[in-house]
Formats: sequence, C-alpha cells, structure tokens
Amino acid sequence: MSDAPTVSPGSASPSTEAAVLRAEIARRRTFAIIAHPDAGKTTLTEKLLLYSGLLRTAGMVKNRKGGKMATSDWMAMEQERGISITASAMQFQYKGHVINVLDTPGHQDFSEDTYRTLTAADSAIMVLDAAKGVEVQTRKLFAVCKLRGIPVLTFINKCDLPGRDPLELLTEVEDVLGIQASAINWPIGSGRDFVGVAERDSKQMLVFEKMAAAGAARAGMRKLALDDPAALALIGQERLAKLAEDLEMLAVAGNPFSREAFLAGQITPVFFGSALTNFGIEPFYDAFVDIAAAPSARLADVLPPAADGRRTELRIDPVEMPFSAYVFKIQANMDPRHRDSLAFIRICSGRFDRDVVVKHFHRGEFVREVRLSRPTTLVARERTTLDAAYPGDVVGLVNSGFAIGDTIAVISGKIQFEHKPLPSFPPEVFARVSPIDLGRRKAFDKGLTQLATEGAVQILRSAHNPMADPFVAAVGRLQFEVLQYRLKDEYAVETRLEPLPFSCSGWLVGDPTTFAPTPATTLAVDSRGRPVALFPSEWDRNYCARQNPQHSFVEYA
Ligand code: G4P
Repeated sequence: MSDAPTVSPGSASPSTEAAVLRAEIARRRTFAIIAHPDAGKTTLTEKLLLYSGLLRTAGMVKNRKGGKMATSDWMAMEQERGISITASAMQFQYKGHVINVLDTPGHQDFSEDTYRTLTAADSAIMVLDAAKGVEVQTRKLFAVCKLRGIPVLTFINKCDLPGRDPLELLTEVEDVLGIQASAINWPIGSGRDFVGVAERDSKQMLVFEKMAAAGAARAGMRKLALDDPAALALIGQERLAKLAEDLEMLAVAGNPFSREAFLAGQITPVFFGSALTNFGIEPFYDAFVDIAAAPSARLADVLPPAADGRRTELRIDPVEMPFSAYVFKIQANMDPRHRDSLAFIRICSGRFDRDVVVKHFHRGEFVREVRLSRPTTLVARERTTLDAAYPGDVVGLVNSGFAIGDTIAVISGKIQFEHKPLPSFPPEVFARVSPIDLGRRKAFDKGLTQLATEGAVQILRSAHNPMADPFVAAVGRLQFEVLQYRLKDEYAVETRLEPLPFSCSGWLVGDPTTFAPTPATTLAVDSRGRPVALFPSEWDRNYCARQNPQHSFVEYA
C-alpha cells in the first residue's frame, strides 16, 4: 500500500482526516491497459514497474519462455495451459503517485471480466503496435471506454521496428475509433533508426541510449532543443530535417491537446515509444501521472427506488461520503490449498479501514451487515493484508456471499444507495451445456448458477422452451473450458458442451410479442428475464433488424 501518512480514526480532527483523504485521492491513478494481443501490454506493464523501482530487472511480470505470470499458480488449469486466466490489480508508486493497474486479460482469456474491469478504471492506456494500428480487440475495449466515458491515452509501441507512418496511425485512430488524436510527442527516426521522441509543444528532443538487452534497465535520456548544435551531431541531418518538417506539419494541421477534452473522452493524447527498449517510457509515464484523472465522484442510485420503479441519483463524492465500494470481479480458487474465492472491490468514496462494518446491497436490496476482515491487496502479485485503502484502490475481500455489481457502504445518514449496476456485455460464443450423468443435474444446476453469479458466463434459456438445457454465452471461448473444468473440479459434474452457430447477439428493445424473428434468429431470455436475440452473423443481425423496424438490438444491457 501507499506510504502516505495514515490517520487512524479518532486520532485526528475530522478536518485533518478529510485533508489526508483528499491528498490520497489526488495522488491516485487507477487505470487499465487496453490492447490487442501482442501489442505490448505485458511489456509496458513491466516497464511501468521498472520505472517505479519495483523490478530491478524487467521480465518478472511474465516469465516469457514459460509464458505465464511469475506467481500465478492460482489455478491448476492455468498452470497446465501456461496462460493467465485471472485478472486482478497491482499497486505501486511513481514520483509520489499511487498507481493502480487493473489487469485486463487479452489473449484467448478475453472475457466479460476484461470488460467489467474497465468499469473500475478512471482512465485507460491504449497500446497500439506501430506496424498494425487499431486491431479488433482494441476496438472492442475502446468501445467500452467510450460507453463509460473513460478517458483514453494512446501509446504507439514498437517504434523500434519498421512501422506505419505516424500520421497515418493518428488518422486511423480518428477514423476507426471516432475520437480526435492529439500527438504529444513525435518519433525521431523509425525502425532501427528510432532514437527518441520530440515534444511537440516545447520542441525539445529526448534522445535515448540503449542501456541493456531488452530494456532490463532504465534507458539513459538526453534532452536538448531542436536547434541545439549538438542535435545535428546526435541524430544526423536527415532525421533532423524530417523531424522539423513533421513538427511544422503538426503545428499547422494537428489537433491541439486540451486536458478538458481528454477528460471528457473527446480527445486521446498520443505518445510514441518502444516498451522493449524503454525509449519513450519515462516521458509517457510522467505525462500520464500529470494528466490522467484522479478518482472522482460517481453517480449512484438511491434505495429503495420509487414505487413506479424510477430511480433518484445521488452523487458520491470520494471525500465527502463515507466508505463505499462495489464488487467488479470475483475470483475463485486463487489459492487451491484453501479453495477460497476473492471479491475484488473498487473503492469509490471514503477511507477503508480493516474490520469496518458495512451494509451490503445486492440488486437494490439490503442484504446484511458485514465486517470486512482480512482485506488483501496485490503488490506485484504478492498478496498482503492491508489496513487502510482509499478511493481508486482495489481491495480483495474473502468472498462470503458477494456477487458482481454488489455495493458495500458505510451508511451514515438515512439515505441508502447502491452504485450503478454494471452493464452486461455482448457475448460472442454460445454453446448448449448439459450434465453427462443425468443423476448429477441438481449439482449441475447449482454449479452453473454459482458460476454465472461470478460472471464467468451468462446463462440463457430458449424463449420457446425454457425447460430445455440452458445455453451458455461468453465473450471468449476459453470461458467454456473454465466452466467445464470448474463444474468437474468443484461440483463433480462432467458436462457435454455443444457449440452453437451464433456469433453475435443483442438485447431486444421493443415489444417481444410483436417481434418476428427471421429463420436464422433464435430468441432467448437472460437470467434477469430480458429477451436476447442470437444471430449467426452480423449480416443476419442487420437483416433481422430491417425486418423488424419497430425493434432494435442493443449490445450492452
Ligand atoms: P501483450 O501483453 O500485449 O500480448 O504483448 P507482450 O508485451 O507480451 O509483447 C508481445 C511481443 O512483442 C513480445 O515478443 C515482446 O517482447 C514484443 N514487444 C513488446 N514491446 C515491444 C517493442 O517496443 N519493440 C519490440 N521490438 N518488441 C516488443 P515475444 O517474441 O512474443 O516474446 P519474447 O520472447 O520477446 O519475450
């Protein structure tokens, strides 16, 4: 945890406590890295740790040859497959700031968790491969950031390899993602000739020096003005002339940066660099802590809702309101010896103290009072018990009865509230699942319900035959393997899984009784009774929409 001054309750005046809380919040940066697999998310995370003084040498986050995280022996399956199924958070410090990085799995383990984790972030870093630009998984993750109004910074990585023209990359970001791109710095040279970045505003050049193989140590950095006579000697006439030309063009045609527009999600500041060689990491990291948002107020719903179901919103100020948080992730089997399960909460307001007694709300209902003992945090993947935490922090609680989206709060007045429900995300893979031994159906139902509560998969039932075996739906195919593995391991149920030929879906908006599904469309209901239409392809979805002009389909419900 942070080494900030701590004030234990009762030992300081309320105004001092509020000042400490305010300072702690102001120095926190809670973010997620969004990237298509292989763009360099893991490498960048390692380098953030390296520049935070947490890793003496890079290569500790991921044992590359083994391809798995250093201490993630949480799940047997994870070991067997050598991949990371889990997503959690790491905390460390950089130049007086407390950094919370939320891990968003990207490979085959891309899942609803990846999306949900983004809801806990105050900003996102989008890593693009300079040779590939905006790729499909980046697009999907960016869409969630947009939906949630999460400001996004862009890091164009792998500038040490032959890549696309920087201007072309900026244009692609704008055209494909629909956000203005504003270059904060610009690459000097490209591929093998990439030596550093030039700051667009100050016209200063940052020229880096290779320090060790694969950037195992910080890169030496020299800062000098473009017109410094030493610049010519350092980077040569050709690169200097090209750079001067590019910067001139940017001054005329580039989008200016505005922090306000960035925080409002209208503009993404763009940085260039190479996570592998550490070129450009430090200026990026410095700018990130400078401009990224600290935890701020969130809107919650007052409980209970009005008799007609209408909800009144309440602004949850991180300083003014007592402790409150919501569960954004449940992680089972983190320690196979204890068979435990952790509920990860994102703190939204107030100071969290170990053993605090909170009210627990589930889907708008008060459930119980509960004491939060044994809270844990993950620092570079080591689990430690913590005594205090602040808004923006992620805390793992031994899970006894929490579900995704639940609110926990110290309620000081009469007004009770819950944090906004988490959206459901559009599944892309579907299957019908059933127990092989029909005698195990009860255990199967129990296990499936429990795993759906943890958000591993969504359960859908046929709208026409609700008694038939359920459909399971997920964002990534690996979730099905996890589901089958866990049903077998934890509930002793072997299952049969039949993939279904759907590839997209949408929650139905409009009267279900007048909806006329096309032959390729299947109508199902989700666990909250909401109708969902399943389609073999985007084309079928569009065709069905055209045939039902009174209805529409939404991707997030
Ligand atoms: P991911 O988490 O986004 O999937 O990507 P990761 O960081 O694992 O990087 C994917 C590959 O790209 C790795 O190579 C990594 O070393 C490389 N890489 C990341 N950043 C840069 C960069 O700035 N420049 C260059 N040249 N390469 C970069 P790999 O061959 O898959 O792994 P390894 O054997 O090199 O460890």
